[in-house]
Amino acid sequence: MIDFHSHFLPGIDDGSENVSMSLSMLNAWSIQGIDTVVASPHFYATRNNPERFLRNREAAYNAVREAMSRYRPSNGGNWPDIMLGAEVYFFNGISRYEGLHDLCLEGTDLLLLEMPFTPWTSRMIDEVSIIASTTGIMPVAAHIERYLNQPKSLVNAFLDLDIYIQSNAEFFLERGTSRKALKMLKKGVVTFLGSDAHNMGSRSVNIGPALQVISKSLGQDFVDDLTARQYDIIEQFKSNYF
Ligand SMILES: [Fe+2]
Repeated sequence: MIDFHSHFLPGIDDGSENVSMSLSMLNAWSIQGIDTVVASPHFYATRNNPERFLRNREAAYNAVREAMSRYRPSNGGNWPDIMLGAEVYFFNGISRYEGLHDLCLEGTDLLLLEMPFTPWTSRMIDEVSIIASTTGIMPVAAHIERYLNQPKSLVNAFLDLDIYIQSNAEFFLERGTSRKALKMLKKGVVTFLGSDAHNMGSRSVNIGPALQVISKSLGQDFVDDLTARQYDIIEQFKSNYF
């Protein structure tokens, strides 16, 4: 299983505060049996630029890698593989943004896109559609569960787009939303899962418990098939851009 959404790189956003916290988070993924973790620090075009972002991400990644080479996970297993990405916050004009490809998941055309938390408009949905159809980039919409209170017609239009959808582990773990989460996963609306982990406290690595809920309800075969599908999509969207 891939954790497609996380903030474990140290000191780059509101996620992990230092290398030691990053290692604890990676240890949690290892214990939870996660093979691959996508590092997706926040990217806000109003406050950052791709060049600076990539430079900072590389430095944070190198610091973590150096520490990973000196320690082993507490269960004696392996560290998960790391793929570098970004969680890019939507803005008007994003479909024409020059640096967008640089923010895709490394080596692919997949872009983890964070939709606005302000009221949605049909223009926003149209612009996501334009990204998918004209830029060669495939959006993966982050934590869809946070937008289900947006106007129903816009949510439906969004879900009808030819893009991928990610949901957070907590969607499956909260009593009030678990049933809905399982339904969306079973129907194939949701393809990627993420912990969206920021730390070892209130926003910790919780994808393992979510997988237990999914496996219990839909079966381990479903989880295995989903994992295979996730890797297939990454393979399918390998980029010629880089
Ligand atoms: Fe996030």
